[in-house]
Amino acid sequence: MQSLLFCLLHLGAAAAQSYLGNILFDGIELLRRGQSQMDLEAVDDRDQILPEYDFIVVGAGTAGCALAARLSENPDWQILLIEAGGPENYIMDMPIMAHYLQLGEMNWKYRTQPSNSYCLAMNNNRCNWPRGKVMGGSSVLNYMMYTRANRHDYDRWKALGNPGWGYDELLPYFRKYEGSLIPDADSGQARHGRKGPVKISYSAYHTPIATAFVEASQQAGLTRGDYNGVNQLGVSYLQANIGNGTRCSSNRAYLYPLKGKRQNLHIKKKALVTKVLIDPQTKATYGIMMQADGRMQKVLARKEVIVSAGAINTPQLLMLSGVGPAKHLREVGIKPIADLAVGFNLQDHVAPALTFRCNASTLKFNNFLNSDAVGSFLRGEGPLRSAGGVEAISFYALDAAEGAKGWADMELFVAGTSIHWNQALRVALGIRGDVYESVFSELERSNANAFMIFPMILRAKSRGRIRLKSRNPLQHPLIDANYFAHPYDLNITVRGIKQAISLLDQPAFRAINARVLEKQLPACRRYGYQTDAYWSCYARHFTFTIYHYSGTAKMGPRSDPSAVVDARLRVHGISNLRVVDASIMPYLVAGHPNGPVYLIAEKATDMIKEDHNYT
Ligand SMILES: Cc1cc2nc3c(=O)[nH]c(=O)nc-3n(C[C@H](O)[C@H](O)[C@H](O)COP(=O)(O)OP(=O)(O)OC[C@H]3O[C@@H](n4cnc5c(N)ncnc54)[C@H](O)[C@@H]3O)c2cc1C
Ligand SMILES: *[C@@H]1O[C@H](CO)[C@@H](O)[C@H](O)[C@H]1NC(C)=O
Ligand SMILES: *[C@@H]1O[C@H](CO)[C@@H](O)[C@H](O)[C@H]1NC(C)=O
Ligand SMILES: *[C@@H]1O[C@H](CO)[C@@H](O)[C@H](O)[C@H]1NC(C)=O
Repeated sequence: MQSLLFCLLHLGAAAAQSYLGNILFDGIELLRRGQSQMDLEAVDDRDQILPEYDFIVVGAGTAGCALAARLSENPDWQILLIEAGGPENYIMDMPIMAHYLQLGEMNWKYRTQPSNSYCLAMNNNRCNWPRGKVMGGSSVLNYMMYTRANRHDYDRWKALGNPGWGYDELLPYFRKYEGSLIPDADSGQARHGRKGPVKISYSAYHTPIATAFVEASQQAGLTRGDYNGVNQLGVSYLQANIGNGTRCSSNRAYLYPLKGKRQNLHIKKKALVTKVLIDPQTKATYGIMMQADGRMQKVLARKEVIVSAGAINTPQLLMLSGVGPAKHLREVGIKPIADLAVGFNLQDHVAPALTFRCNASTLKFNNFLNSDAVGSFLRGEGPLRSAGGVEAISFYALDAAEGAKGWADMELFVAGTSIHWNQALRVALGIRGDVYESVFSELERSNANAFMIFPMILRAKSRGRIRLKSRNPLQHPLIDANYFAHPYDLNITVRGIKQAISLLDQPAFRAINARVLEKQLPACRRYGYQTDAYWSCYARHFTFTIYHYSGTAKMGPRSDPSAVVDARLRVHGISNLRVVDASIMPYLVAGHPNGPVYLIAEKATDMIKEDHNYT
């Protein structure tokens, strides 16, 4: 079976990919069957759902699971949680499998529109934008990297006219969801929560690359410390959303523990919400339409509909429901109900990963799918417990003024593996065959050890947009990522690349003979190797998304024409409708957003409870 998998990955054809996804999952699922004491799903899927609920939550992702669990704490409220995808399965529990999940049906498989200035090394100049379509949403596909981001991120949200969103006011919400198992976490003013549902731990497994990265960063002057504590700037082994060696998705964190305990929470899986029902006269929301069990169904909401469909599907669903830019809606034949800047302000983080040769042993994903590795996972050891190969992380302020504030503008993270050892990653990224051949095939032929550092821009200034392709809810929306449109973004990215390369001069990296891969991107060769112009060209080719899409239903006061929801996350001009997910971020945080989305959900629940007099 293993060599078949390998061939299929090399083919890279869409059909082969989904076939690959399925046999891979089947194989490992078989191995684990009978090994877990846990039922896969928390709350029984209702065939018979009620005609009406108090609250309907659309999307069981990072935010949706948290919301549904918290709102149903009130036994007097009936809650319906609707998810387009199916249940989680055992393979998703294995942290190392992150890349493989992108090849299966639990991914929406979005792609950006073709561009002449970014994603140039990808098939048809389009970047793949994976998104979770499964109970737990993108928290099931993600790399589990846990960051709170920086206090200034939240203080800026507040300063834009959003009361209640300053970092100090938010600290209790961080602590409410955090179940940190980090032994040396900051214990002072910024201390972590220890008892919350979302587990955070260091990986039990490291390659020598991780250690070299942490040491080299310290030798270059960074302090080692808790980047989720008082000082973000520094280096550390990765804090990951892993509990007991297993992925801690939002589904596992919030819904598994409720199994059999919440009669007032109903969950409908494999159901696609196609429209939020809003009375065009009163502008009051009263329910949703969904496609489920082969037919269209209407479900009514007595109190509110809460859209938690993520930063791509939320703007899509709002627009399909008549909430969005009136001109664009008319173009696709939808009658506008509220003229709002839905789909604008799209933000993301990209990191054009660099590949380094070395002489220390690295993670060889292609060798994993054997009973040894699976056996060691079941025993609680070995590389399958690594967070998708991501091992350590550092934060820099490359601009001195930002350094004075302690607000990172560049992140480096290291993966103790290379694309040639991980064909699933190559397919997931959609790298063109000829580019792979010229850059990586020699590594592959010589079985070379290599690792990657990802220089990730933290505060990009470019903004993209999500638009509808048509009024058909089954058609994917159009995604204009608009990467590097603002010159700052390429400038800081190139400086980040050079920062990563400068670490090679440190003794810890010298000791493993780490050096930049000498193979050049053919399309960039004319700029001269390792010049700023070469690295700019490189970034425009290897425009690797880190999957942090956000901002498309921006939070802000009514006076701000670019705002879609207010500080209580209510859609402007429409009653009984909220957005609670990564879409509401006015500015994407300087870190990885999964934790911040839990924060948004926890705060939203408190506001909803207040607004309906339940405390
Ligand atoms: C591959 C990948 C790697 C990532 N790595 C990290 C990381 O290491 N660290 C980190 O912090 N962040 C990471 N992220 C980002 C992080 O996971 C997301 O920011 C976060 O999960 C977003 O949460 P959300 O609730 O906004 O949306 P989601 O979690 O995407 O939830 C949306 C849910 O709504 C459902 N849905 C959508 N439309 C409909 C509809 N019409 N009807 C019914 N259901 C619908 C979806 O199926 C999905 O389950 C990663 C993301 C991806 C995809
Ligand atoms: C952790 O995993 C081990 C082995 O699978 C199991 O015995 C133990 O009960 C688990 N602990 C928790 C807290 O889930
Ligand atoms: C970034 O911008 C600064 C200021 O304009 C300039 O001095 C520097 O050379 C630029 N660096 C790169 C890598 O483009
Ligand atoms: C790796 O390279 C370094 C530097 O050349 C050398 O000192 C070390 O012995 C090498 N280690 C191995 C395992 O080959």
